[in-house]
Amino acid sequence: MKKNTIITIDGPAGAGKTTIAKEVAKRLGFLYLDTGAMYRALTLKALTEGITVEEEEKLVEMVKETILIAKKDDKKGMRIWVDGEEVTDKIRTEEVTNNIWWVCRVKDVRKKMKKLQREIGSSGGIVVEGRDIGTVVFPKAPFKFYLDASIDERAKRRWLEQTNKGIQSDLEKIKQDIKERDNKDFTREIAPLKKAEDAISVDTTGLSIEDVVGKIIEQVSQ
Ligand code: DC
Repeated sequence: MKKNTIITIDGPAGAGKTTIAKEVAKRLGFLYLDTGAMYRALTLKALTEGITVEEEEKLVEMVKETILIAKKDDKKGMRIWVDGEEVTDKIRTEEVTNNIWWVCRVKDVRKKMKKLQREIGSSGGIVVEGRDIGTVVFPKAPFKFYLDASIDERAKRRWLEQTNKGIQSDLEKIKQDIKERDNKDFTREIAPLKKAEDAISVDTTGLSIEDVVGKIIEQVSQ
């Protein structure tokens, strides 16, 4: 494997992308790019500015003016700044998660993010995680993975994540929310979630983090 290679990891919410991508990057000494965090940061700014779902033009203007900066962090994998303010933790709220669909469906928003993601990944040595990375952002990446897991397992993981943070949540509600997000991600007109034809599928249901990381490292080391 070349040191300047690009590894893409796509898949639906709760499939384990973030945990796996961060760990693979750490072991290989690569950068890690969480593209979902970029869309989350834009959504946070749009909500803070009071932009609504109907105001697409205003949203595009806002995105044009926004300066997004992502930096490597040994603990968090990646930190993100919007116009000079760090928002790494602020972008993980339910409000952002529930509103992100109308931000990431807009053509000009995706166009700017694609450009930025390509710039960040231009030197390689990077693991990039998202929904359209192997299909649209880095279609020529030499290593592509598509992670998935059963809906029950994905919901259970999210529930456990919340519980570990001390947040009470309802498993059935989480399951419904994930189904809705899946539906929006799969049916989006521009850059929907799709497995790239040449991506390796990994069903993470019942697998440990070590199992999945091991599979990926094995593939890229061949
Ligand atoms: O990975 P995440 O759950 O933080 O992503 C949040 C949302 O961002 C997800 O529901 C879809 C969107 N997204 C996208 O449209 N394209 C990407 N490359 C990454 C995320």
